[in-house]
Amino acid sequence: MIRSLIVICLVTFLGTYNLTAQDFEYVGAKKCKMCHNKPAKGGQYKQWLGTKHATAMESLKGDEKKDPACIKCHSTYGSVDSDLIATLKITEGVSCESCHGPGSKYYPNAIMKSREKSMARGLILPTKDVCLKCHNDECAHYKGFDFKTYTEKITHPDPTLKK
Ligand code: HEC
Ligand code: HEC
Ligand code: HEC
Ligand code: HEC
Repeated sequence: MIRSLIVICLVTFLGTYNLTAQDFEYVGAKKCKMCHNKPAKGGQYKQWLGTKHATAMESLKGDEKKDPACIKCHSTYGSVDSDLIATLKITEGVSCESCHGPGSKYYPNAIMKSREKSMARGLILPTKDVCLKCHNDECAHYKGFDFKTYTEKITHPDPTLKK
């Protein structure tokens, strides 16, 4: 009796906490917009819409919009395993989840309120390495990359957040 109880507890525990990267799917920027578009908290969605990341697919012409060799950097959609795509659209270009990780398991409010829980469920606070996956000379239009100045160009701080 006690032993089966322990087994049940263990199964529940593993089922809840043993999340792996395969469980994290891409939901798209609209899902983030629900909570990250308030001006008082920095309006990250609107801020992102004003960057070249949001319009990266518009730089591609004709068949380039379907070419894996281009969309692998010009869209989040083309850069990730297609099995992990939930509601993400290719037209979003380089969206939130390219830098912050697939959001399906961290976007609920109860999780997001905790940095620790969010990170355990796929949230990434990006460093230079994340940018360098795309910012490199594989693109003929590459102009060089400096983490500090490039981050300033896309920055979207939340003034209410404790660092
Ligand atoms: C249901 C509301 C909600 C949704 C949806 C949501 N977030 Fe959040 N997010 C929060 C809250 C609450 C915080 C904690 C900070 C705060 O209070 O503003 C937060 C914090 C963050 C942080 C900062 C973490 C830190 O500790 O520095 C990032 C990055 C982030 N969210 C990215 C995203 C992304 C990307 C998406 C979409 C995939 C998303 N969020 C969707 C509510 C949400
Ligand atoms: C998934 C690929 C990808 C990732 C990851 C990525 N970028 Fe980009 N970035 C692009 C593409 C593609 C463009 C060009 C968009 C266009 O104009 O078509 C771009 C453009 C930019 C620009 C505009 C440059 C200009 O000429 O004005 C800045 C600034 C920038 N990125 C900063 C960053 C920073 C900082 C990071 C990391 C925190 C990052 N990017 C991560 C793909 C990416
Ligand atoms: C390794 C990632 C990567 C690949 C692959 C890639 N690009 Fe890019 N592309 C970028 C980044 C990053 C930028 C921004 C350049 C910068 O600011 O240094 C960019 C910029 C551009 C721009 C200039 C946009 C502007 O506003 O100035 C065009 C056009 C472009 N890419 C077309 C293409 C085409 C066409 C392909 C496929 C043949 C392609 N790219 C493949 C990452 C990539
Ligand atoms: C190209 C990469 C990139 C994209 C795309 C991106 N972010 Fe960020 N995000 C960053 C970086 C780098 C930081 C930390 C530096 C800063 O404050 O901007 C950050 C910080 C944040 C923070 C915390 C701000 C703080 O004050 O600590 C939130 C919230 C956030 N992002 C949400 C989003 C949402 C929502 C989207 C999409 C609408 C998004 N981000 C798109 C790179 C990105």
